[in-house]
Amino acid sequence: MAAEQGQWLLMATARSPTNIAVIKYWGKRDEALILPINESISITLDPDHLSATTTVAVSPSFDRDRMWLNGKEISLDGGRFQSCLREIRRRAEDVEDEKKGIHIRKEDWERLHVHIASYNNFPTAAGLASSAAGFACLAFSLAKLMNVKEDCGELSAIARRGSGSACRSLFGGFVKWTMGNVADGSDSTAVQLASEAHWDDLVVIIAVVSSRQKETSSTSGMRESVETSSLLHYRAKEVVPSRILQMEKAISCRDFATFAKLTCADSNQFHAVCLDTSPPIFYMNDTSHRIINLVEKLNQFEGEPQVAYTFDAGPNAVLIAKNRKTASLLLQRLLFYFPPPTGSELTSYLLGDKSILQESG
Ligand code: ADP
Ligand code: DP6
Ligand code: CO
Repeated sequence: MAAEQGQWLLMATARSPTNIAVIKYWGKRDEALILPINESISITLDPDHLSATTTVAVSPSFDRDRMWLNGKEISLDGGRFQSCLREIRRRAEDVEDEKKGIHIRKEDWERLHVHIASYNNFPTAAGLASSAAGFACLAFSLAKLMNVKEDCGELSAIARRGSGSACRSLFGGFVKWTMGNVADGSDSTAVQLASEAHWDDLVVIIAVVSSRQKETSSTSGMRESVETSSLLHYRAKEVVPSRILQMEKAISCRDFATFAKLTCADSNQFHAVCLDTSPPIFYMNDTSHRIINLVEKLNQFEGEPQVAYTFDAGPNAVLIAKNRKTASLLLQRLLFYFPPPTGSELTSYLLGDKSILQESG
């Protein structure tokens, strides 16, 4: 380390998108390593609309690791942040910045402290997978700062130690999180099934029903389900393995009807598991149910699925339309049945190519 220079600061910034599972992960076989009881498949969303941006900084003047999330300091205690930091530090390499005269040797990283500042451009802890974008971005930005040479597959296993769903956000497009076999979990990583370009007709619409923080975090919700729901164990063993195979095929053939049927059925079964948990967990609300009805009716009217719906651990709907034409039809219906209160500050629209964010009530 260039101790003689005294004070210096080195920073790295990264942005990671969120991902929404179409075959859900819900339940761990190992809590500490965050290993799942079933495989899952997701779509990584467009980072312009739903992403985390994280800046990490290192300086000899920092006396401890600290983190700010959306401008507020949060504790780094507890396993998850510590696991990610430890795993990245273990792989850190020498860093040279000739211009600033900074020379950090790999062994220096053990005693240097970092400051982390992260912002989400969408609701945090509201069931839109902020933990996925957040921990993927944390792993990626720390790896950049510490000159870690590992590829995205290996970084995905590190992000997984922060939040399971985060391992899938290291890749774009359609992504599968594999179970892995080895005891230390190093092979339970994400793999890309197909890039976004493979099926670029799809349009994702996010309908934000509530941006409030959920009462039951995904972590504690799934722990309670593992302990009390028999449906969860049936699902993991008897249902998900064949759905994974069918979903991989549907994606590879761009078979929207099968894709939509599987996506909706899997979301509904995941929420049935939540109801089967004791005490039951209610992530969806009346508005979520009304959105499901609207999509089911639209699909029935058209004769075959035009729109898929899926809800993570929260009331917010992720709607996947077959193409732009069905997306505009869907949007018209949404605006008709859920008209935004005029002039309300609560109402905001983010209109982009791929996603539309509606906030209501
Ligand atoms: P969500 O449905 O939004 O993923 P979770 O209950 O799974 O909700 O996780 C929310 C937690 O994820 C937050 O309390 C915080 O600990 C973590 N988190 C969210 N955003 C970030 C971020 N940008 N960087 C690091 N951690 C984050
Ligand atoms: C419903 O990855 O947030 O979104 O691993 O405990 O951090 P932890 O949980 P998390 O759970 C995500 C659950 C889900 C489904 C999914 O993303 O596959
Ligand atoms: Co989460």
